[in-house]
Amino acid sequence: MQNFTGKTAVVTGAASGIGLGIAKALAGAGMNMVLADLRPGPLEEARAAIAALGVKAIAVQVDVSDPASVAAVATAAGQAFGKLHIAVNNAGVAMHGTKLALVTPEEWSWAFGVNVMGVTNGIRSFVPMIRAHGEGGHVVNTGSMSSFFVREGREQGAYAATKYAVAAISEALEQELKGSGIGVSILCPGAVNTSIFDSAATRPDRFGGAYSRPTQEALRSAFATGSLDPVVVGQRVLQAIRDDDFYILTHTNERAAVKARLDRIIAAFDRADAK
Ligand SMILES: NC(=O)c1ccc[n+]([C@@H]2O[C@H](COP(=O)([O-])OP(=O)(O)OC[C@H]3O[C@@H](n4cnc5c(N)ncnc54)[C@H](O)[C@@H]3O)[C@@H](O)[C@H]2O)c1
Repeated sequence: MQNFTGKTAVVTGAASGIGLGIAKALAGAGMNMVLADLRPGPLEEARAAIAALGVKAIAVQVDVSDPASVAAVATAAGQAFGKLHIAVNNAGVAMHGTKLALVTPEEWSWAFGVNVMGVTNGIRSFVPMIRAHGEGGHVVNTGSMSSFFVREGREQGAYAATKYAVAAISEALEQELKGSGIGVSILCPGAVNTSIFDSAATRPDRFGGAYSRPTQEALRSAFATGSLDPVVVGQRVLQAIRDDDFYILTHTNERAAVKARLDRIIAAFDRADAK
């Protein structure tokens, strides 16, 4: 996509952090914005901030883990703007600081419900709308550096499991949309300065409701120190849509760890070849 002015984008998880950073970048390029998030108060503040940039913006409360709720966002987008061109399936929650054996069934359901089913619900509701007008468009799914490897010592297996799933879904979507004029990207940031460590306070009731996760608190300062401004991530996403890049990386500090994981897989192929 090269021409953004007057076209329409939906961003989930748009009330704060990376979603808001992406929304600011897309609005800065002149797009109509559909901002969707679980938290109505911060969402309305985000809508006002985006509208102040001089574009049309609507806010729709959503629980991305609920298919009907995401479908209602698509309906609202259609009613407000007619066509949809960009979908950013970004809403996500943290699940760090707990060993796998201690992650509860409710926590697994919540983390997969938001981080994985949130993306698939977005694909089901938004991709047919983008296809419908034939003008082309783009889908961005938010993965993580944890889509590529599991950081040792962070006890983030459950979180990484959700983000590996986002990688597989994004690769498959790119294959399925080849030739359609709709590009696909997976955003895989390292540490970004956001409210991600507060996400337990937003756990929907059907997954057990709001709670606190003290084991995760130890990681908060590690992420706040030297982490990236979400506005920079948003600009990077805008450029990647223009360039039709599949992988959107924002950090280079963990290149060696990702390479080590890939090298280990290739070494296993070498051993299999040798047998
Ligand atoms: N912050 C980082 O360092 C980092 C790194 C890599 C990937 N990510 C990913 O970036 C994405 C955005 O996270 P962030 O860091 O900006 O955190 P954030 O908490 O600032 O923003 C996430 C937003 O998602 C919303 N949300 C949570 N559950 C929801 C639900 N069920 N339905 C709709 N909205 C919901 C929250 O209200 C919040 O506004 C997530 O997918 C996260 O996994 C973050």
